[in-house]
Amino acid sequence: MPPLDNDVLLRALRREPTPYTPVWLMRQAGRYLPEYNATRAKAGSFLALAKTPSAAAEVALQPLARYPLDAAILFSDILTVPDAMGLGLHFAEGEGPRFERTTADEASIGRLEAPDMSKLRYVFDAVRETKRALGRRLPLIGFAGSPFTLACYMIEGSGSADFATVRKMAYRRPDLLHRLVAINARAVTAYLNEQVAAGADALMLFDTWGGVLSTEAYRSFSLASMRSVLGALASGADGQPVPTIVFTKGGGQWLDEIATCGASCIGLDWTSDLRSARRRVGARVALQGNLDPLVLLLDSDIVQREASAIVRSAGIDPGHVFNLGHGIVPSTPPENVAALVEAVHRESLATRAGA
Ligand code: CP3
Repeated sequence: MPPLDNDVLLRALRREPTPYTPVWLMRQAGRYLPEYNATRAKAGSFLALAKTPSAAAEVALQPLARYPLDAAILFSDILTVPDAMGLGLHFAEGEGPRFERTTADEASIGRLEAPDMSKLRYVFDAVRETKRALGRRLPLIGFAGSPFTLACYMIEGSGSADFATVRKMAYRRPDLLHRLVAINARAVTAYLNEQVAAGADALMLFDTWGGVLSTEAYRSFSLASMRSVLGALASGADGQPVPTIVFTKGGGQWLDEIATCGASCIGLDWTSDLRSARRRVGARVALQGNLDPLVLLLDSDIVQREASAIVRSAGIDPGHVFNLGHGIVPSTPPENVAALVEAVHRESLATRAGA
């Protein structure tokens, strides 16, 4: 494997010094880009796009043609895994994901199995196609949903304001929720290992809903299953561990514990303060984040001001990856993303120069 031309992200994830702060954005390929909407219209739907490796590679590279980002992320979705378990995934226009079948009781969970990875071959093909299109330019981030966050969608059958069915199950039938999460953890481990075999350079676990749980339930249902996934990952092609990012939205109060789960980096939502987060986790992990995505809807001078403040609060110690605190909003003006990326690079160079 020849080295990458730009490995600033991988260095930051390993907490090695970097000349500037690397930046990429959750949902950097998506509906705020007119060229994404055009490719999706041609493919017919979001799922058709995600299931066609050449189209998925095309949209993964679209933001890189516009902005000097420091990483690409696989274009796919976390819900491909329960889809491959036979739950029947649909995206109704403007509505978000829906499953035809749920796994909310003993019988349905009893029937559930980790899927054969051949059903997810289109994802691994998308990793290979995206790597081929990237060449040596930039690293590619692979990803999966956390075992608990996948369980949330599998139990409710869709998104939810409060995931009440899931939270009640955690108290009433912890055995069932544990069984479901354990099946997901096996599936996610195999899924991520296949992404690494196909060429992914780093991996991220999206635990979007871990933050709805009580502390004890978070530990036992979400954090423990992420620890088991991270502990079972194979090495990359160079024989080194593949750097990993864990993002629990709403997990700011548990950073000390999350720092022990085996990830190289913790993703922060915008409610955490980077400076105190660094004090809490010490030198154990890198930190990723954490601009409020709504800032990108404002004037570009506010974008630059807020981005600079985050870069300064991360300081000059190694191990900061700039990102948003959650996914980019579809109404984001593309020129604000340009202003953001430029501000992160400029401010981080200046901070290192002692300016
Ligand atoms: O650019 C990237 O970040 C890579 C692609 C990516 C998508 N989904 C594409 C997508 C990634 C990393 C995801 C992860 C994902 N998917 C998460 C975890 C991160 C988070 O946002 O909390 C979750 C919870 C999902 C499930 C999901 N997929 C939802 C709830 C929705 C609908 C809400 C929304 O934002 O529209 C999706 C659809 C989806 N996934 C879109 C994209 C680009 C929009 C679909 C479209 O184009 O119509």
